[in-house]
Amino acid sequence: MDSTTRKIFIGGNWKCNGDRKFIKDNSEFLKSIKFDNSKCDVVVCPTFIHLESTLNELSGSSILVSAQNVSMNDNGAFTGEISAKQLKDLNIKWTLVGHSERRQFFGDTEEVISKKIKISLQNGINVIACIGEKLEERNEGKTLEVCISHMKTIVESVENNWDKIVIAYEPVWAIGTGKTATPEMAQEVHQQLRKWIIENINEEIASKIRIIYGGSVTEGNCNLLIKEKDIDGFLVGGSSLKSDFSKIILSYEQKL
Ligand code: PGA
Repeated sequence: MDSTTRKIFIGGNWKCNGDRKFIKDNSEFLKSIKFDNSKCDVVVCPTFIHLESTLNELSGSSILVSAQNVSMNDNGAFTGEISAKQLKDLNIKWTLVGHSERRQFFGDTEEVISKKIKISLQNGINVIACIGEKLEERNEGKTLEVCISHMKTIVESVENNWDKIVIAYEPVWAIGTGKTATPEMAQEVHQQLRKWIIENINEEIASKIRIIYGGSVTEGNCNLLIKEKDIDGFLVGGSSLKSDFSKIILSYEQKL
């Protein structure tokens, strides 16, 4: 399978943004975008309290809805948590795990991330697993080392569910900063990750797994980024809250 046969994956991470009006208006807007869902998966990630209304607003469209996080625990005495079982009950098919903001502000360690991936998969929830280096790590030449250590957590948690995983490479220094990795920089990391998967898992999984890029993706840079061989889509924060997201979704046409 080569880059033209992997289905493009475009995720919109709304983070802690939006109110009921936004959910309604933005869902209307998303439904108006004409894209070929046999060539591109589109997934949006509202907050937990907006998951059900977003699902309802988007019903009848092919746009999928993802959680931004999930508890590492099953149902029980865990005040404030939302379990994978509860997401499943709501008919949510995806969750982000290991986003850098969770790692940085909420103590999501590799151990926590591993538990979250496992419990999601056990409940039939697909995972967008986020990895990526901080600026000082890049400056010290440790980009690949950091990404591979994050990959090892994914490998040990995924068991045989590789078809339920999308890897999001998001260099932390590019998230919300307006500093995008150049297409060449992103491609280099994606290619090295795929090579590592060939060497450490197998060629078939490496050729099928989607590795998407995240970090200041905009309507201005998406068309060049998507043309890179090993970039299979995007995880978009800020620009997914705006009409720019339409052009980012349609960037899949550049790959054909
Ligand atoms: P950004 O966020 O597009 O605003 O940089 C990306 C992300 O956090 O997934």
